[in-house]
Amino acid sequence: MSTQTEQNKKTVIRRPGFSFFDWLGSLGTEDIGIDLGTSNVVVYVKKKRLVYPESSAVAVRVRTGEMFAYGTRAEAMEGRTPQSIRIVHPLRDSAIVDYGATAYLLNSIINHSYLKSMLFHPRMIVCVPAGVSGVQRRAILEAAVTMGVRKAVLIDQPIAALIGMGVDTERMQGAMVVDIGGGSVNVSVVSRHGMVVSDSTYEGGLAMDQAIMTRVREKYKVQIGRPAAESLKKQLGILWDMSGVLQAGEAAGKSLESGLPVKIGVTGEDVSNALRPIMQVIYKKVLGVLQKTPPALLADIRDHGIMLSGGCAQLWGLDAMITKVTGIPAYVVEQPMYVNAIGAGAALDYMDYMRDSLQDLH
Ligand SMILES: Nc1ncnc2c1ncn2[C@@H]1O[C@H](COP(=O)(O)OP(=O)(O)OP(=O)(O)O)[C@@H](O)[C@H]1O
Ligand SMILES: [Mg+2]
Repeated sequence: MSTQTEQNKKTVIRRPGFSFFDWLGSLGTEDIGIDLGTSNVVVYVKKKRLVYPESSAVAVRVRTGEMFAYGTRAEAMEGRTPQSIRIVHPLRDSAIVDYGATAYLLNSIINHSYLKSMLFHPRMIVCVPAGVSGVQRRAILEAAVTMGVRKAVLIDQPIAALIGMGVDTERMQGAMVVDIGGGSVNVSVVSRHGMVVSDSTYEGGLAMDQAIMTRVREKYKVQIGRPAAESLKKQLGILWDMSGVLQAGEAAGKSLESGLPVKIGVTGEDVSNALRPIMQVIYKKVLGVLQKTPPALLADIRDHGIMLSGGCAQLWGLDAMITKVTGIPAYVVEQPMYVNAIGAGAALDYMDYMRDSLQDLH
């Protein structure tokens, strides 16, 4: 993630690299919305409308097990550390796989930002993917306890997303949200009564990066790292031939033949071909959910359009392809990577009426 600060409407995006003084103004804020993702954790500070994203990564000393860095700083160390240091991703396929590292990550983010002293015991709403297991819910709540929160509520991600998009969830008939994140793709149809149909696949952004790495290795006999593959994915997307001009990106890697560093040109066609099998899975999931959707909701879904959220929603050409495959206009929502956390934050207004999920721990 870049280090610049963005101003979008009333929401301020605080990226890593902020100064402590930036945060002084938000002292006293007590409520937070959190989107805990495989690639990114996004914290939304309600009172100041601050969005604070961090990479979901923790650096660990192998010998002692000590966790000493987190977020974007830990992510940047990946592939560059001595053997004595390991970079851990506490979530895989949108599920917590390392509880200790998750708690460390969340605690570090909160302690490093505005709630340094933990005196304020925040209330928080955490987005969870539709269909998350009871064990996972418990894991998130236990992490919340270590953060000293005084009340925690779990909310379904697609519902948070709709609130974040400003949809009037009390009045709408039906809406379709496709969240294409790093570790999973979640396709959901929501009515004003809650989740109606959903399906998911773990073929998210990380699987896309792997597919690009494999393609480059097979075609060019060059090994590139995941960040290089991710960068090609962001630059080239899936519709290389849309403008009729063959687009290309450059990637640095290691020649499998000579073992030496090389730079190669990778075309949009390469990336598009690499991603095609994953895209087919995504289209199939979207069509499958539409087929299972009650007819009464379809008209409203058509009116709203299919809403694409998550980082990979920004893949060049994806909205056009989903529109083509389904015949329903699909569009990328504003701030696709932050909309869940923003929606969770907006739902904090109703928190007084929501049951405290921490009670489930007893
Ligand atoms: N401009 C872009 N174009 C394409 N992909 C992008 C872009 N920006 C970010 N991504 C991808 O988005 C993914 C991260 O998205 P997001 O933050 O929504 O995932 P997450 O919420 O952490 O994961 P999940 O919800 O699956 O647990 C990464 O794979 C990243 O490469
Ligand atoms: Mg996500």
